Amino acid sequence: MDDSISSPPSPRVYLETYGCQMNIADSQTVNAVLRRAGYAAASTPEDADVILLNTCAIREHAEDRVIGRLSDLARLKSKRPGLKLGLLGCMAQHNRAALIEKAPWIDLIAGPDSYRRLPEMLGREGFDPAIDVRLDRAETYADISPDYEDGIRAYVTAMRGCDRFCTFCVVPYVRGRERSVPPEDILREVQGLAERGVKEVVLLGQTVNAYRFSATDFGSLLRQVAAIDGIERIRFTSPHPCDMSDSVIDAMANEPKVQPYLHLPVQSGSDKMLAAMQRGYTIAEYLDLVARLRRAIPRLALSTDIIVGYYGEDEADFNATIELMKEVGYDSAFSFKYSVRENTRAYKLGDSMSEAEKGRRLAEVIALQESISLQRNRALIGETFPVLIEGPARRGVGMLAGKTPQFKTTVFPGREGATPGSTVNVRIESATGHSLAGSIA
Ligand code: SAH
Ligand code: SF4
Ligand code: F3S
Repeated sequence: MDDSISSPPSPRVYLETYGCQMNIADSQTVNAVLRRAGYAAASTPEDADVILLNTCAIREHAEDRVIGRLSDLARLKSKRPGLKLGLLGCMAQHNRAALIEKAPWIDLIAGPDSYRRLPEMLGREGFDPAIDVRLDRAETYADISPDYEDGIRAYVTAMRGCDRFCTFCVVPYVRGRERSVPPEDILREVQGLAERGVKEVVLLGQTVNAYRFSATDFGSLLRQVAAIDGIERIRFTSPHPCDMSDSVIDAMANEPKVQPYLHLPVQSGSDKMLAAMQRGYTIAEYLDLVARLRRAIPRLALSTDIIVGYYGEDEADFNATIELMKEVGYDSAFSFKYSVRENTRAYKLGDSMSEAEKGRRLAEVIALQESISLQRNRALIGETFPVLIEGPARRGVGMLAGKTPQFKTTVFPGREGATPGSTVNVRIESATGHSLAGSIA
């Protein structure tokens, strides 16, 4: 071979991910698509020939962050005219017209169902940006094995899209219709992960428990995943309260690998708000579900999502949310100020409350949850839990961190043989609202 003819170096891609776990999982699919097409990974934007941002559209704040980041990156582009800058994901799908107006120098806009075509889009030359935001009812990327990040936990997409159309939410518009990945593809992925030493899989979908592929419902998917040797813990997110079938509860109760932790978004404690949001359940039904879950699954930990300041939320509605939080006693809660989103059913209503009032309500929810979390975590002092070790703790020399079955971060001094991926029994000695600390029992 003639040494003087060497192949050109692979173009390098830098990919930055915003938003939920589904976007993290999608970025791994994007990496796999681009690697197959001959791209290499860049570790910083400065090293890259292509910079991609995988974006989120759930709240205005999420979009503002990306716009800010884009203007930073635009500076690199002015220094290096060959550099391509692209937007992927939910915001690309949601806002393409506005984006092109705000950032006309963007080279590529690809929605969540367009990632297969990225190599071809990046190969296009010309002044106009390459845009592909076709939603595809059938796309599940089932045949593309993602480039998983190293670690003991891996996220595996079980279903995509959402058909629920809660009035406040942009997801059904940016992710399209609900569709499930064939079980054999999910099982093949999990099998491969187990062979690489992954101990915990998290099955993903916006309404993941609505999973159905032919005769396989979500409960039976959980049981099939649990049959894979090497996988020790199974979790899933986000389940919708309306899809919490007996089959799923049964799998959680009877399959030891399915962990006793559930993120069960409630959004509001007021029936009036739940009806306005078209969530599909009442508080009585939600509380009944919580009671059934707690009866079936001992020591179940619960977390939730709460929106404050949705259109029409009055003081009584807000107080109902506060009361619900006290009644359920969540282990943790993610709370958000309502953000009006274009395209959604609630868009035309606008806001009924000032940002300041939303802020007051949010602060109250956060403070209440802090105290509930602290109380619940303190009650665990003196008990012992199996902790799957993830790696060194962020603080403290020689300290390790991992999660209990209830998904509580637990920090403890290391010991010989206590390596990432192994499970040790940790006796809890102290607690904050966010984590537990103890020592190996
Ligand atoms: N599929 C999940 C939620 C996904 S979005 C479910 O139905 O439970 C994650 C959270 O973002 C939601 O639970 C909700 O609390 C919040 N959220 C969604 N749209 C929002 C909006 N327009 N403003 C504020 N918060 C919102
Ligand atoms: Fe959004 Fe509702 Fe679908 Fe969740 S279930 S993603 S909140 S529309
Ligand atoms: Fe955001 Fe899209 Fe997830 S809007 S929350 S990244 S599905």
